Amino acid sequence: MEAKGPSESRTTLTDLVLPSETNPLNNLFGGELLARMDRAASIAARRHSRRIVVTASVNHVAFNKAIPLGSVVTVEAAVSRAFKSSMEIYIDVWVEDRESGRRTKANEAIYTFVAVDETGAPIQVPALEPETKIEKERFEAALRRKQLSLVLAGKMKPNEATELKALFEE
Ligand SMILES: CC(C)(COP(=O)(O)OP(=O)(O)OC[C@H]1O[C@@H](n2cnc3c(N)ncnc32)[C@H](O)[C@@H]1OP(=O)(O)O)[C@@H](O)C(=O)NCCC(=O)NCCS
Repeated sequence: MEAKGPSESRTTLTDLVLPSETNPLNNLFGGELLARMDRAASIAARRHSRRIVVTASVNHVAFNKAIPLGSVVTVEAAVSRAFKSSMEIYIDVWVEDRESGRRTKANEAIYTFVAVDETGAPIQVPALEPETKIEKERFEAALRRKQLSLVLAGKMKPNEATELKALFEE
C-alpha cells in the first residue's frame, strides 16, 4: 500500500452555532463540538484508509475557549499518523471573527480511529508520510500518545510503553 500525505485526508467542516446547540451561557455545548469533531475525524480516517472506520478512543480534548452563539466554526481534521489498523486524527477548531473574517484557534482534539472489514475486524491501512514541520511534530509524538491511550485502556503494560517512558527519563 502506498503511503499518503496528511493533505489527502484533510477534512474541513464549517457550520454555525445555532440556539439549540448552546449551553445556558449561550456558548456551544461541549457534546455538540465533540460530535462535529467525530464526524470530521471519521471522514479524514475514511479518506486515508478508504475503509469502514470506527472511533477507538478520544485521547485528548481541550475546550480552551468558549464559542458563542452565532459563531462560524470550522473543524479541520487530518490523519497525523497511521499504525497498522489504527490512525491518529488531529483536529483543530477555529472560530471566524464576524467583521475581519480572521480565524482564531478555539480548541483542539486527538481521536483514534480503526479501519475494519465488513465483520468489524481491524484491517491494515496505508502509512502516513508527514510533510510540513507541524505534521512531522504531530507524527513524532503520536506513538507516545498511542502508548498512553493503550496503557490507560488497560491494553498495554506501562513497562512496555518504551517511547512514553523515555519522555519522563530525559
Ligand atoms: C476499535 C476496535 C475495532 C479495536 O478492536 P480490538 O479488539 O481492540 O483490536 P486490536 O487489539 O487488534 O486493536 C486494533 C487497533 O486499535 C488500537 N487500539 C485499540 N484500542 C485503543 C485505544 N484505546 N487507544 C488507542 N488505540 C487503540 C490498537 O492499538 C490497534 O492498533 P494497530 O493495529 O494500529 O496497532 C474495537 O474495540 C471496536 O470495534 N470498538 C467499538 C468501536 C465503535 O463502535 N466506536 C463508535 C463509538 S460507540
